[in-house]
Amino acid sequence: MLTRRRVLQLAGAGATALSMPPLLTTSRASDGFLELTAGPSRKKLYRDDAAVSELWTYNGTAPGPEIRVRLGETVKVRLINNLEEPTSIHWHGIRIDNAMDGVAGLTQPAVPPGESFDYEFVVPDAGTYWYHAHNKSWNQVARGLYGPLIVDEVEPAFSRENDLTLVIDDWRLNRDGGLDLASLGHLMDWSHGGRFGNWLTVNGESNPDFQLVRGQATRLRLINAANARIFEIDPGRFNAKILAYDGQPLLEPKTPAYAPMLLGPAQRMDLLVTPEDDFALEELSGNDPFPFVRFRTVEGDGIPGAPGSLQPNAIPEPDLDSARVVRVDMTGGAMGRMVETVYKGKVLSGEDYPRTGQLWAFNGVANLAEEPLFAAQRGETIILEVVNDTAFMHAMHVHGHHFRVVERGGATIDDGDPWRDTFLVGPDQTTRIAFVADNPGKWLFHCHMLEHAAAGMNTWFDVA
Ligand code: C2O
Ligand code: CU
Repeated sequence: MLTRRRVLQLAGAGATALSMPPLLTTSRASDGFLELTAGPSRKKLYRDDAAVSELWTYNGTAPGPEIRVRLGETVKVRLINNLEEPTSIHWHGIRIDNAMDGVAGLTQPAVPPGESFDYEFVVPDAGTYWYHAHNKSWNQVARGLYGPLIVDEVEPAFSRENDLTLVIDDWRLNRDGGLDLASLGHLMDWSHGGRFGNWLTVNGESNPDFQLVRGQATRLRLINAANARIFEIDPGRFNAKILAYDGQPLLEPKTPAYAPMLLGPAQRMDLLVTPEDDFALEELSGNDPFPFVRFRTVEGDGIPGAPGSLQPNAIPEPDLDSARVVRVDMTGGAMGRMVETVYKGKVLSGEDYPRTGQLWAFNGVANLAEEPLFAAQRGETIILEVVNDTAFMHAMHVHGHHFRVVERGGATIDDGDPWRDTFLVGPDQTTRIAFVADNPGKWLFHCHMLEHAAAGMNTWFDVA
């Protein structure tokens, strides 16, 4: 029933050159700000003889430069907008000062073409995060406006050679291999599973190869930057353990209890591998396993290089006994039950749906309303009870907070109530998450299938 089961049609480009992770550099202005320039650039996403794609990128590359800092440091980034439309940057998963959250229209005005905006914030948690455009994200992220943000532990748990960032994206390419721009914004995608691609890249490359040292514990940081695709992977195929979800470490590395594991849009998963042989990461959501990144083992100096353990971040523990439950009914979309939907204070009917593109709703309200979904006192524990009354899976993201997934489909969940910033909720499923609303400001709660967010699955809450 899941429509994400699409075959990746353009299989077989077969780039086999050994490629180490791209060395990413960031220019730094004299006042200490890293400069990220959003602008058009051109890149071949598919074979060498295929058409060039017209992308929008940060500093000319997709993904943009890896921003790497240490726990507790201050990130200073100057966004310079050389695009033809306004933009902003959101720092996904960072428990950030609200004014720096980068949500155009809620926490800041979008930055107009030709202008700039300075982001300055402290990173309170170590782990794997990412940044992306947050104005018309369905368009800007699909064209390449995203990059990794890695926060090292005070004593990094892995040495740099044993710590790889893998930003995974699926692109929708035309027959000639160039990025399909004409279909951006198609209501067919908005009302179904979102915009799926037909070609995968890792760090912007097709089928890259990485070298790993045999027997060395290595951390693979997987980041799903796709608009809508849920990747399915089976870490058990290469004896990997799970180190962390969405930047937050498990108490100890865990062998996955089931397969495949789902990696939804915006989610991250850190894996621990100790390679003995060559292996590939395969995407399993199609009809056949689709290998999209290969790892070749090379001999090292024989020193095993034991991984340090990951310390938990200091996230406040929800108090379930005193929690306030906020219920969110998700409705709409193709094959969904029709409910009365309010958009900008007006009940939609008939022609309003295609005209406004509002096809989904939370509690009968499409997109941001004047009133928040809820207003919390600072320090209050909130349980969001998310009832998915649609025919699709969704990837729900809370801004500014990490939460525990406490219940899924009536059962308390495996993986010891993991901390996350984005969770998947299946069709006809109910999931409960809990968090301490301790970060003052206006925060989004939305589906990270970016077409769904644009088409109504987008609300906000207020922390006093
Ligand atoms: Cu990663 Cu509101 O976004
Ligand atoms: Cu969704």
